Amino acid sequence: MTDKKAHLQVDGLAESIELPVYSGSTGPDVIDVRALTSKGYFTYDPGFVSTAACESKITFIDGANGVLLHRGYPIDQLAEHSDYLETCYLLLNGELPNAEEKKSFVDMITNHTMVQESMARFFRGFHYNAHPMAMMCGAVGALSSFYHDSIDITNPEHRRISAHRLIAKMPTLAAMCYKHHIGQPFMYPNNKLGYAENFLHMMFGTPCDDPEVNPVLARAMDKIFLLHADHEQNASTSTVRLAGSSGANPFACIASGITALWGPAHGGANEAVLKMLDEIGDVSNIDKYVAKAKDKSDPFRLMGFGHRVYKNFDPRAKVMKESCDEVLRELGLENDPLLAIAKRLEEIALEDPYFVEKKLYPNVDFYSGIIMKAIGIPTDMFTVIFATGRTVGWIAHWSEMISETYKIGRPRQLYTGYDQRDFVPLDKR
Ligand code: CMC
Repeated sequence: MTDKKAHLQVDGLAESIELPVYSGSTGPDVIDVRALTSKGYFTYDPGFVSTAACESKITFIDGANGVLLHRGYPIDQLAEHSDYLETCYLLLNGELPNAEEKKSFVDMITNHTMVQESMARFFRGFHYNAHPMAMMCGAVGALSSFYHDSIDITNPEHRRISAHRLIAKMPTLAAMCYKHHIGQPFMYPNNKLGYAENFLHMMFGTPCDDPEVNPVLARAMDKIFLLHADHEQNASTSTVRLAGSSGANPFACIASGITALWGPAHGGANEAVLKMLDEIGDVSNIDKYVAKAKDKSDPFRLMGFGHRVYKNFDPRAKVMKESCDEVLRELGLENDPLLAIAKRLEEIALEDPYFVEKKLYPNVDFYSGIIMKAIGIPTDMFTVIFATGRTVGWIAHWSEMISETYKIGRPRQLYTGYDQRDFVPLDKR
């Protein structure tokens, strides 16, 4: 809170409307516009480009300077020194755990990795070639049908158990989506393995052949989860908050986040990047596609470039690029033709005035798609993996909202349809 006030002068109003101004711990001040309704006005901000929809203590982004902080800690420091589960603890609890707290959190998550056996029957109801994201939305929503014992959202212990169950079971469900898709038996989690390692085991192991997971790939996978863990009030997190504001249970809320993530402008971008690279097909076609991306009359965009918030660089992309180089070296894929297209595209976009002036930098999805392709993960699983990593962010925001006083989310509109008119009987139309 500050003593600062904003004054809104509207033509025709005798007096200006005084609005309070609040300061956060960092970032732009916000003008509290709630009093406008009583004066007969709504604010209008499609796409929420300048609307702070809530107060939060979890994540801070300074898009102009490429800064991303979780509970104050820079993302590059977390990526270098921490791991996914420790970052989950941080996001959920506000502080880094000490050694004992970390062990007990990791044990707790590891304890919950299995899903109810009837989930396997549930999966069998999906068509064999269903998109994994379609299965993921359904499977996560269905979790609420198994855990009646812990969906009282007013009970902090229930909220905590639901958070742990969701974080623990997402990799298991993600791998089940893949196994169902390719017609292989589901693999049970192996609780001797780490979080990302276990996921790769459930993805690529079979009952006949369960090879050891390459530690370089497990580390890269853990980084993918960590770098996607949270990103403040993006479309899917805002969806989770909005769904949660009605009092819906956490599993249903996370399922709603997954649906919002699916689109190519959000989490679907990592899949779209690989489809685009496939479509370009050869380095010699890049100029044609770059010209298409710059052509206003052509809807084509370079997938994996640009960001609503980052107008300098995406700090996650920097870390992901290093991880990408490490994975490609490990797998001897430095000369892969698809990766050659990606590298050239990156060079052009970083030099071309169109991309430079519009500040369209490669984003996290550009490199994560390349890493996952190199690991052997099919493109239609990419967004499922994003959802797996982001689950902790969604649940942390949902929990933060539910633990405080909140109102159901109910945006208003600028109505431009017909004014009231009389019904016309069918024979008169
Ligand atoms: N290729 C070509 N031109 C682009 C691109 C692109 N990828 N992104 C933006 N532009 C242009 C756009 O045409 C517009 O030009 P003008 O000012 O002349 O009209 C200008 O840049 C600003 O674009 P915008 O659509 O107003 O920007 P936005 O903030 O609404 O959109 C975005 C951000 C991420 C949706 C957009 O950059 C995009 O569609 N990128 C490709 C999809 C993608 O990679 N999405 C993943 C985002 S990161 C993961 C996540 O957080 O979910």
